[in-house]
Amino acid sequence: MRIAITGSGSGIGAATAAALRDAGHDIIGIDLRNADITVDLTDAAARAAAVDAVLERAGGVLDGLVLCAGVGPQVPDPNLVVEINYRATVALLDALLPALRKGENPAAVVVSSVASTQIAWADNPIAKGNEAEAFAQAGDFAGHYAYASSKNAVTVAVRERAVEWGGAGVRLNTVAPGSVETPLLQAGLDDPRYGEAIRNFVAPIGRNGKPEEIASLITYLLSPQAGFVHGAQFVIDGGIDAQTRPTAV
Ligand code: NAI
Repeated sequence: MRIAITGSGSGIGAATAAALRDAGHDIIGIDLRNADITVDLTDAAARAAAVDAVLERAGGVLDGLVLCAGVGPQVPDPNLVVEINYRATVALLDALLPALRKGENPAAVVVSSVASTQIAWADNPIAKGNEAEAFAQAGDFAGHYAYASSKNAVTVAVRERAVEWGGAGVRLNTVAPGSVETPLLQAGLDDPRYGEAIRNFVAPIGRNGKPEEIASLITYLLSPQAGFVHGAQFVIDGGIDAQTRPTAV
């Protein structure tokens, strides 16, 4: 399979790229650094050029797409969190659907977060179109608010595409990890505003996840074995969602 992966330079994206390469797939990595295509995905013009570069390398045909690139709540500008985690992700989904339509057993996976469940779409400032104002009023909490809003919005965006993508023969799902040991998690732990809360966010299973564990779920979702799995979100969090929201099914 020919598979494009954003965020391939680190953490979950790097582990996914390695697992898929080991399985014999042809990977096109996209990232700020350590990638086949080097790009800042928050820059709309650079993003469009990166799409062209992916299409050129892939000969216009993709069998898989994994959108991992993202930042955590500690990033100083909450609007940047939304731009990479939500806007860039949705832009790439839409831009690369035509190439996926031509692929063999094509599928895409978006890396959302268990934080997507921490806010309802009806209360999401992105849904209301007033996020800049809402984050400005949130003070120290703005980063987490922006992060949860961006992940909720990207999960909703995937679900909203289930009909069109299913009709096009391209499966599309999200994975929603809890805390996973990557540089992103470490940056949150090192942040005085969020470190303690993240440390206290201990899963029932008693440890954080490993990037390879998320990669293995993504690999399954891209495979023909997941042929009937579409429009779904897979929480992979050591049980923390079940612990905090046991009746939310
Ligand atoms: P990471 O920091 O190891 O990897 C993220 C990658 O995205 C980096 O290689 C980075 O360069 C790239 N990236 C960030 N901004 C970019 C931009 N503007 N343009 C191009 N590439 C950019 O982090 P991790 O943990 O592997 O994160 C991957 C995804 O998993 C993210 O979407 C994150 O929100 C999500 N996630 C991570 C969790 C965790 O605890 N590590 C928990 C839940 C979700």
